[in-house]
Amino acid sequence: MSSVTVSAPAKINLSLGVGPVRSDGFHALATVYQAVGLHDEVTARDADEVSVRVRAGSRLDVADVPTDDTNIAVRAALLLAEHHRVQRGVELTIDKTIPVAGGMAGGSADGAAALLACAGLWRLDTSVEELVELAAELGSDVPFALVGGTAIGSGRGEVVTPLMTRGEYWWVVVESERGLSTPAVYREFDALHAGSALGVPQLPDELMAALRGHDVAELGAALSNDLQAAALRLRPELATVLELGRLESAHGALVSGSGPSCLFLCEGRSHAVLVATGLSARGVGPVSYAPGPVHGARVTARTED
Ligand code: C5P
Repeated sequence: MSSVTVSAPAKINLSLGVGPVRSDGFHALATVYQAVGLHDEVTARDADEVSVRVRAGSRLDVADVPTDDTNIAVRAALLLAEHHRVQRGVELTIDKTIPVAGGMAGGSADGAAALLACAGLWRLDTSVEELVELAAELGSDVPFALVGGTAIGSGRGEVVTPLMTRGEYWWVVVESERGLSTPAVYREFDALHAGSALGVPQLPDELMAALRGHDVAELGAALSNDLQAAALRLRPELATVLELGRLESAHGALVSGSGPSCLFLCEGRSHAVLVATGLSARGVGPVSYAPGPVHGARVTARTED
């Protein structure tokens, strides 16, 4: 039986500027994405029907990930088949490492990985441009999961412009037991800004300069997330997690995307190990660490009939 396995990374937002609601109901964004070394894997195998199963180690609870045709990997397979006007089945297996509903675009990674895996399995010759366009139909963060690296996101997040940056960064990630719903966080953001006119979202100059110079301390000070206040309103306990990370000497602390995962920027790998160990000892968690930027979705294994 033929199969294709694709690995796709989690994303973080080094800055997330949120503007007014657009006529399509989405918020205008100006964000800097970075892909980090936490990956989900999707394997696509020959089958008559489209199906999906979701697996994870004991650390992750995947009970809330749907296994019907609302699953983003299934939607990706159906969208690709429709785009090429073919009728194909596929058995999809998702091996999850990225926190579920954690603000790190785990679902988007699965959608991007499924697109690439099915295109390979079905030998459809889909161009990168077509894949990115289909990815945008699946969700605002899905195109970035294909592209990876460090990139600017505009529009509703789906317009991705790669950024050339120097060097590597190390991040400590603190997950939460329970995920947060992205629409709920955006609703809270709207409630917080009701009555005030939001301007066009901008990319912070200091952040762009810190990236150009690979200045970790400057980058840590420039990290920003317009959704953080909304996420903290829904999960006040995250403020303590952020404070503990700063006490453990992290250069910067922020909520990842719509949360509830929290991110801590470190000097390098050994500093990340130190901060992660300190946070674990304080009883927050689960805690992990990962480098960024890493590449976008790519094929990691292929078997032929
Ligand atoms: O595009 P995606 O499916 O990831 O978006 C999930 C939800 O997050 C949307 O339905 C919307 O409520 C909110 N969202 C938004 N503005 C964006 C991106 C997402 O309001 N730019």
